[in-house]
Formats: sequence, C-alpha cells, structure tokens
Amino acid sequence: MIGRGFWVCKARLGKRGNRPGVVPLLGGVIACAALLALLFVDFIELWVTSMSMNTVVEPHAGIIPPQSVPPTRPEEFLLMPSPLVCQRAKPYLVTMVTSAPANQRARQAIRDTWGGEVEVKGLRVMTLFMVGVASDPGLAKLLIEEAREKGDLVQGRFLDSYSNLTLKTLSMLGWARRFCPQAHFMAKVDDDVLFNPSALLHFLNKSRNPYEQGDLYLGRVHLHVAPDRDPESKHYLPSGAYPHSVFPDYCSGTAYVLSRSALLKISLAASASPLSTPLPPEDVFVGLCARAAGVLPSHCPLFSGGPAVPYGRCCYQAMVSIHHIPPREMLQYWADVNSSPPCSWLSIRASLGMCKVRAMLGSDLGLEQGL
Ligand SMILES: *[C@@H]1O[C@H](CO)[C@@H](O)[C@H](O)[C@H]1NC(C)=O
Ligand SMILES: *[C@@H]1O[C@H](CO)[C@@H](O)[C@H](O)[C@H]1NC(C)=O
Repeated sequence: MIGRGFWVCKARLGKRGNRPGVVPLLGGVIACAALLALLFVDFIELWVTSMSMNTVVEPHAGIIPPQSVPPTRPEEFLLMPSPLVCQRAKPYLVTMVTSAPANQRARQAIRDTWGGEVEVKGLRVMTLFMVGVASDPGLAKLLIEEAREKGDLVQGRFLDSYSNLTLKTLSMLGWARRFCPQAHFMAKVDDDVLFNPSALLHFLNKSRNPYEQGDLYLGRVHLHVAPDRDPESKHYLPSGAYPHSVFPDYCSGTAYVLSRSALLKISLAASASPLSTPLPPEDVFVGLCARAAGVLPSHCPLFSGGPAVPYGRCCYQAMVSIHHIPPREMLQYWADVNSSPPCSWLSIRASLGMCKVRAMLGSDLGLEQGL
C-alpha cells in the first residue's frame, strides 16, 4: 500500500504540461507530506521530544565523591551467579530484567527468546534476572532451585513487592557497579518487555557520538510529569516526600540503557541520597539520581514505553523494546521476527510508521499488517 502511494506521489508531482487545478495539487502535496511523515515518524518524534527537553545541568550536580559511598557487599545478595560471572562472560551489554518471584513463565520465555548469553555481531550480551525476597516460603524454595538450575538470578535483600520496586533498582545498580565492571552498557528491562539487543547495539553503533566513554541514559523520555498526589493511587507521592511540582525528565522504567560511566554516577547518587517514604516510582527515582549526578536522559523512539505496539514483523525487527508482551506472544513474535530474512529499508520505515501511528491512536484502524 505504501509503495503504491509513493509512486502515485511521484507521478502527480512529475506531471507537467496541462496545469492541474490548485485543489488537486494541494491535495497531492498534503498526501505526499503525510506519507513522508509516516515514513519518518520516529525522526519527527525524536525532534519534537528533544525540543521540549530540559537540557540544563544544574551547576551543583555531579559532585558526589565515590569514596563517600560504601562499596556494594556480597552479603547484600541472597542469590547470585558466581561473582566472577562477568569476568568469565565479558559482556559488552548486561541486561538486568526486573522480575517478581512468581513470574517464572515470563523468565523462561525470555530465556527462550532474547535472553541468555548471546553474541551479536561479535559483541557479547548477557541477561540476568533481578528479584527480591518472596514472602511465600514455597515460592522462596522454587527460586533457590531456579537459581541453582539456571544460574541467572540475582536476589536482593528486601521484600519483593510493588512498592519496593525502587529498592530492586537500587540493588540492581549496586550489583552491576560491583560485579559487572566489564560491561560497557547495562540495560534495565521489565519482564513483560520484548527486548531486542541487536536493535539496541545497531542503534548505539549508528549513533554519531561514541557513547562508550561518555554518559548515556537512553530510553523513552517522559517530559514534565507531575507527582501523583492522589492518596488512593499506587504511585502516590505526598509533597513531604517530593515537594516540587514536576519531576525532572526521566526514561520510562519499562526499558532503559545506561553506559558504564552513567551507571557509576547514578548509582553513587542513589546510594548517597536519603530515601524518602514512600519512595518515588522506580523510573522517577533513577531520573532524580541522574539529575543529581548531572546525567541528562536521551530519547530514543525505538523504545515503546507504556503504550502497546500492534504487531508488525518489520516494526518489531527495528524496535529496541516493546512493552506488554505476555510469555506466549513473546515466543510467537520472536520466532516470527527472526524466521524470515531482514526487512528492507522501505518496509522497516513503513512498518515502523504504521505501528507507531497505531500505537499513538491506541486503536486498531484496520490498516494492512505484515509489511
Ligand atoms: C520493602 O522491603 C523492606 C525490607 O525487606 C521491608 O521491611 C518492607 O516491608 C518492604 N515494603 C513493602 C511495602 O513491602
Ligand atoms: C558497527 O558498524 C560497523 C561499520 O558501519 C560495522 O562494520 C559493524 O559490524 C557494526 N557493529 C555492530 C555491532 O552493529
């Protein structure tokens, strides 16, 4: 469908001689502009988001001396792979999946699809799961067995509950800081996210700035979000815990990526900052620590953030992260995305535009799939 529109555009604009009326000409121009916008919707999104981002780093930011923060101790983790796991695997990217003890099926789907230890174009990627303490003794036993069998669980010393997610992130940052200095990048991903390490590595490789040395805090950036002051809400944050009217810009917690230097700065800021009660949501907390450390978030349109993205093979091939994927769909989509040859440039542009527009509209417009 897109291909046909493209040629119609060309034919219309290319026609000379008999002058077309103003109205059809205008219609043609609008149609072509819409088509171009569809093909480059991610660039438009990046431009619009970057325009409204706060790019001012506060002068007092980033002055936490590393010596002032106690080192991460192995006793903080009840279960973990060998402390030498990163020394052995030498991952370029370590992906930490935050998971609840009961979500065994989600973890297995990830191991069977994008997880595990893999090599992408010569770069090693390792995926580990971050859990807390299960309140149910039966579940706690199952976790110990799972850790022994799979060797990919890291368990922090805190009760695993929704309101303790921020403690999970603190624990994850501490673990990666201490036990995985080999990784150039760390990704934090939720266990209902279809993550695509090769799309991420491709994006990082293609980006003009070599982030390997500098700070990178990459994901879907949320702008000017106000704290939730509704006491009934599960994200309730009273003004005693956070007095300002908006949060600093932060990356959606569904999936974000930190370079080694950003990880160190954010993790040090996190350990140095007093923890409020209740804690801010996990992603806001990371955003606050990043702000304190002088690290600015970067927006990448290939991270889906909250809204569901309708399935399209070429779209999913290009996206770095897609949220709200149950285990069964994860297996199905991953197999389909990887079964056939890579999509062409035009099919990726068209499919990406289509699924982004559909995700924005939040409804099925009945447009063609499978581009
Ligand atoms: C969070 O974890 C701490 C430490 O394990 C525990 O004392 C606390 O009850 C947990 N909070 C919730 C709401 O589960
Ligand atoms: C990075 O880009 C170079 C040159 O464009 C290419 O040769 C290399 O395979 C790429 N690496 C990855 C991991 O995509």
